[in-house]
Amino acid sequence: MRDIIIAGNWKMNKTFQEAEDFLVDIFEYLHNKELEKTTSIICPPFPYLEMATDLAAESNLSIGAQNVSEHESGAYTGEISAAMLHSMDVDHCIVGHSERRKYFGETDETINKKIKMLQNYRIIPIVCIGESLQQREAGEAEEVIETQLLATLQDVQISNNLAIAYEPIWAIGTGETATPQQAQKIHSFIRKWIQENYNKEIANSVPILYGGSVKPENISDLLAEEDIDGGLIGGASLDSNKFKKMIDIAEK
Ligand code: 13P
Repeated sequence: MRDIIIAGNWKMNKTFQEAEDFLVDIFEYLHNKELEKTTSIICPPFPYLEMATDLAAESNLSIGAQNVSEHESGAYTGEISAAMLHSMDVDHCIVGHSERRKYFGETDETINKKIKMLQNYRIIPIVCIGESLQQREAGEAEEVIETQLLATLQDVQISNNLAIAYEPIWAIGTGETATPQQAQKIHSFIRKWIQENYNKEIANSVPILYGGSVKPENISDLLAEEDIDGGLIGGASLDSNKFKKMIDIAEK
């Protein structure tokens, strides 16, 4: 069976002090708690990563980044490389989030380069894909997902070193969640695609997370679906009580 992943994407939120308070609270909660089937990950903003990985060294919480440069190193002002993340013990990194595609012009091609760069540094990419409302209403959701998978995963090897997050754009930050059945349909489509393009073993082992207005009230029904292996959570991951609650629900 696949582990459940509860991953928080803080986006551009929290001061340093707020971030530290949250993490200390979570570490106290996780201390002496044997999580049997849940991996929990927090993805804070870049400037807090070192503080977070230092604190996390003593715990079973993983720390992820929210983005990475597709370049190795050099004259790329303002960018953060995979080597830098690796040197701070960051073990996961979100790539291709729809907000980065929308506001920062990221394309499937740059995301593909970022995935390979991260894997070179043994950082697990959490690859975000998902359709817009317009695409869903036009009946194109699966086609969009397939196009994104083909392009972002071109020549990418998978062996326990990649996770996928299905995040329908219309469900992000809107309070409108995909129903568990809607999400399951796409998750199963993604797993089948991986089986066809890689193999059955890889398809059965790759974690596929759902993201889009996940919260303590709806996570249980989502996780009950066969192909939903966890959540990539924005808003509800900013509140440590809600985050702890979602870990508790995942462990049940
Ligand atoms: P919300 O949980 O706030 O809808 O955000 C989802 C998301 O974008 C996670 O990456």
